Amino acid sequence: MDTMETILNRRSIRKYTNQKISGEQIETILKAAMYAPSAMNYQPWHFVVIDEREAIDQIFKINPHAEMLKEAQLAIIVCGDSKLEMNIDYLVQDCSAATQNALLAIHALGLGAVWVSSFPNKETVEGIRSYYSLPENIVPVSIISLGYPAEKVKAEERFNKSRIHKNKW
Ligand SMILES: Cc1cc2nc3c(=O)[nH]c(=O)nc-3n(C[C@H](O)[C@H](O)[C@H](O)COP(=O)(O)O)c2cc1C
Repeated sequence: MDTMETILNRRSIRKYTNQKISGEQIETILKAAMYAPSAMNYQPWHFVVIDEREAIDQIFKINPHAEMLKEAQLAIIVCGDSKLEMNIDYLVQDCSAATQNALLAIHALGLGAVWVSSFPNKETVEGIRSYYSLPENIVPVSIISLGYPAEKVKAEERFNKSRIHKNKW
């Protein structure tokens, strides 16, 4: 798929079929995530891939905004390692760049996904850390809910010239 087509047509997908995602697809998605830019090129990310029903459902119990995960075939917790990047602001930006790369790869593969929030919600961060046994230096920044799409969400016009400023505000 053409890069601009992928970017302009990606939308959050919250309904999925029960078709399984292959190991090869997961590797492609995580490869895209790991090619994201990061401050000082520290690449401070880790990815927890969750494909067991009970473990996926647990995310919804921790974060009530993650109801779509009840249908999802897979969840990926994008985590930052504070031993690799000590500045939390950069850690979150790096993991966010990785998350967006993953979302674009997911769309390009014909799959659907939505970014589910984790950081900076303390309850979600601690709930995830506890249930999935993350070490203290690992911050769950975002969660990706994904599967084969069972809904179509149309691209919308977002180009807004009033947000562009030339040379000064
Ligand atoms: C930091 C962040 C947190 C988000 N958290 C949630 C969430 O918890 N639940 C959810 O359904 N969508 C969540 N979203 C998805 C947004 O609602 C969605 O991206 C936005 O409405 C724009 O729609 P689009 O993704 O289709 O372009 C999140 C997106 C971002 C960037």
